[in-house]
Amino acid sequence: MDFEKLIHKRYSCRYYSSEPVESDQLSKVLEAARLAPTAANRQPFQVIVIQTENKGGDLLKIYGRDWFVQPPLVLCVCSLPNLGWRRKKYDNREYATVDAAIVMDHITLQAADLGLGTCWIGDFNPEAARELLGLPDEVEPIAFTPLGHQRDEPTEKIRKPLEELIRYDTW
Ligand SMILES: Cc1cc2nc3c(=O)[nH]c(=O)nc-3n(C[C@H](O)[C@H](O)[C@H](O)COP(=O)(O)O)c2cc1C
Repeated sequence: MDFEKLIHKRYSCRYYSSEPVESDQLSKVLEAARLAPTAANRQPFQVIVIQTENKGGDLLKIYGRDWFVQPPLVLCVCSLPNLGWRRKKYDNREYATVDAAIVMDHITLQAADLGLGTCWIGDFNPEAARELLGLPDEVEPIAFTPLGHQRDEPTEKIRKPLEELIRYDTW
């Protein structure tokens, strides 16, 4: 799909069917995650593919909206800050979180291209996620998304105008 169209097509889907996601569709989504750029190409991330079937109750402890567990799959993008690049020369700022965000963006855009719905979830309970997914201490859950067939319609994109977002040359 034309990239400009794809950017408009992706939206936060909050109503899914339980229809299966084909394995080749999932493969394409995961390949898009794999190809995401990361700082110094460290690839300090893992994607956890979670089947929602019979796990609804537990998953709702992570994020308590019904639509989170409506589709057959939920993906969790985790970062591994110890493996990620840091801006050591200056302030040691960690970039594994940024890397994980780019991975999730690749996931959501590839899913949209396949006609599948996603929704970034940042407002999840990290402790519940750690416990239910068995995350080691050094692994940070960054974002979740349901992955499945959409049952809602995209709403109008509400965004600030460019003049409020872009500056030229200086602040
Ligand atoms: C980092 C991040 C965290 C988000 N967390 C949530 C969330 O916890 N729950 C939710 O319903 N939407 C969440 N969203 C979706 C945003 O609300 C949504 O992207 C925004 O309103 C723009 O709408 P659109 O995605 O349909 O274009 C999140 C988006 C981002 C980028």
